[in-house]
Amino acid sequence: MALFHNITAIILAAFASHAVNAIILGNQFWNLRCRSCHNANSLEDCNNYIQCGPGQQCYTDELIMSSLKVAYQAGCRSDRQCGASDDPSVMKRQQVLSISCSRCCNDEDFCNQRLCGLRKETTALMCLSCDGKDGRPFPPQYADDCAYLRICDTNEVCFAKTTAIKPTGEDTFSQLRHFTSCIPTRVCSELLRNINSSYVVDSHVGKRAEEDICAICSGRELFNHYACTSMKTYMINLIRHNKLNWTTMDEIRTTNG
Ligand SMILES: *[C@@H]1O[C@H](CO)[C@@H](O)[C@H](O)[C@H]1NC(C)=O
Ligand SMILES: *[C@@H]1O[C@H](CO)[C@@H](O)[C@H](O)[C@H]1NC(C)=O
Repeated sequence: MALFHNITAIILAAFASHAVNAIILGNQFWNLRCRSCHNANSLEDCNNYIQCGPGQQCYTDELIMSSLKVAYQAGCRSDRQCGASDDPSVMKRQQVLSISCSRCCNDEDFCNQRLCGLRKETTALMCLSCDGKDGRPFPPQYADDCAYLRICDTNEVCFAKTTAIKPTGEDTFSQLRHFTSCIPTRVCSELLRNINSSYVVDSHVGKRAEEDICAICSGRELFNHYACTSMKTYMINLIRHNKLNWTTMDEIRTTNG
């Protein structure tokens, strides 16, 4: 019972300190997250993100460089700057011929990935990828502490898994590990079809030093940067309401939006 209680406490702690359900439900209690990059050619180059402070929004600027190349700047900026016309600090830089577009948004995380002409050149998804493979960062305790984005293969979607860890010499699961990666779409499909039974909290953990307590996947870009439990709740809701596209593993969206 003590063991069960501990794992539950960890899950609740992870859930509460990273109150992601707020943003999934459309509230703005959570810091807005934005794509962040300098002089990117396309969205594929814009592979970082930052969390905005209060009074800030996501922005994307499209610059025409004196070389006549188009480059994108993206990140957070203040509401006041969003209302202003050309940012003098950008114009002062000699290699910039003109700012052809400058837009802000704050309606959802990463909304600036659709502003100005910032586009992806492939159909592949970008996902958080702290999996410790191929030189990538190792999984941190919390989703927030992974800022490494990767373009998946075209037949892959975003995956996240939370594992409870019993440190050596201790008899309680006192740590978490948030693993993120890309997985094949067909594996995701299997996981979602069995979502009711996938990684439920197990009170018969026994002597194992680690236990997977949550796993989820989604075809929604960068979705795996949220806490696993929140993403799972969201995906279960999509399935229950028949709103999941089983080809893309993403929400069914009305096209005339
Ligand atoms: C999953 O559980 C919910 C309620 O607990 C139920 O309505 C639903 O049919 C279940 N889905 C599957 C695939 O078993
Ligand atoms: C699911 O996504 C595919 C690929 O984008 C699309 O062709 C199909 O119409 C979508 N299905 C539904 C039900 O929206």
